[in-house]
Amino acid sequence: MYSSRLPICLEKDKIQEILAQKRRNQEQIFDLTSSNPTKANFNYPLFNAAEPSCFNLEYLPEPQGYSSALETISQAWRPEKNLNPTQFFLTSSTSEAYSILFKLFCNGGDEVLLPSPSYPLIEYLAQSEAVVSRKYYYVEAEGWFIDRKSLVDSITKRTKVLVIVNPNNPTGHYTCPEQMADLIQIAQSNNLAIISDEVFYEYSRDGVYPQSFLDVSNSKVPLVILGGLSKWLGLPQAKLSWGYFHCHQDLIREAMPRLSWLLDLYLSVSFDVQINIESMARVFHPVQDQIRGRVLKNERALIEAFKNDPKVRVLMSEGGWNAVLALPQAIESDQWACDLLLKKNVYLYSGHLFEMPFQSFVVSLLMEPSQFARSIKLMTEFLKEI
Ligand SMILES: Cc1ncc(COP(=O)(O)O)c(C=O)c1O
Repeated sequence: MYSSRLPICLEKDKIQEILAQKRRNQEQIFDLTSSNPTKANFNYPLFNAAEPSCFNLEYLPEPQGYSSALETISQAWRPEKNLNPTQFFLTSSTSEAYSILFKLFCNGGDEVLLPSPSYPLIEYLAQSEAVVSRKYYYVEAEGWFIDRKSLVDSITKRTKVLVIVNPNNPTGHYTCPEQMADLIQIAQSNNLAIISDEVFYEYSRDGVYPQSFLDVSNSKVPLVILGGLSKWLGLPQAKLSWGYFHCHQDLIREAMPRLSWLLDLYLSVSFDVQINIESMARVFHPVQDQIRGRVLKNERALIEAFKNDPKVRVLMSEGGWNAVLALPQAIESDQWACDLLLKKNVYLYSGHLFEMPFQSFVVSLLMEPSQFARSIKLMTEFLKEI
């Protein structure tokens, strides 16, 4: 009776069951999976500066987004790029932006090229749009590199979109300028649209902004760059994301009416958040600065804790909020993640969730530092005991 676009098994996996039991028992959990900064003790000046109204009796439904909100985002998001507000569209999440773009570019059974390892939801979003995912691979060798051959080999006549996550999550790898030029070339030769997911772009470890797909000029294939408040402002509950069409004007003229038609079916973005975006945008610097500082501090603590541990290697990362810990290949990281939760109440992701090609853990670096230090201590104890 139900669509095959849904997963066959929707049961909780083992670690989710352990977690649910521990939560029922009201045990303290050290949650190293959390990606919500509002739960990690940051100071949000936003709520002093802005006075969001509860309900707005005004409503101007505009499919791409309310013009003043588009104006604000075009000025605040990447101010140095001089972006055109009419080339933006708003959605209630980056996930929704993916769904809309897959609908825009693909028919059922068409294919999208996705990075692996990476953020797992993109594949599920494609699946839920009846679109087939094909993978290209990142290889780890003191940093991460796109395996060009795997990308080119995955292209078929049905491939419509190349997705790039810049920086990738959880590997923290930014696409370098040479590779970016090459990817554009590959997309042009194969007539693929490009989606560059840059939700973590602002969080480079060294504070220097690497190249963005916004630096590409006059792309001859549709190129869409994604961003959103969940990472840019550390405010996932605000439910506002955006895409920016950055390509030749002829392509924009072709895409925008189609996109508006799709967006008009949903009109999903709250008008209240669009009205308040101006006051929110004023305070992104202090929030981003705090998150960047926290991520760096926790990453340093992690490296220090494992520097003499032959079992664990903290992989180099250029950006984002996560760290990857490579583990001995003889172990099963899914099982270790369960055992760590069972024995020490530390909850983290096994790298398999992100298709990491080796045994690994993925940990969020957002946690308040004293809690983070406790979590690492519990982890090191666990590793010594086994
Ligand atoms: C690479 C990447 N893109 C998109 C998202 C989802 O963002 P949103 O909360 O705006 O849907 C995430 C969430 O962590 C992510 O890691």
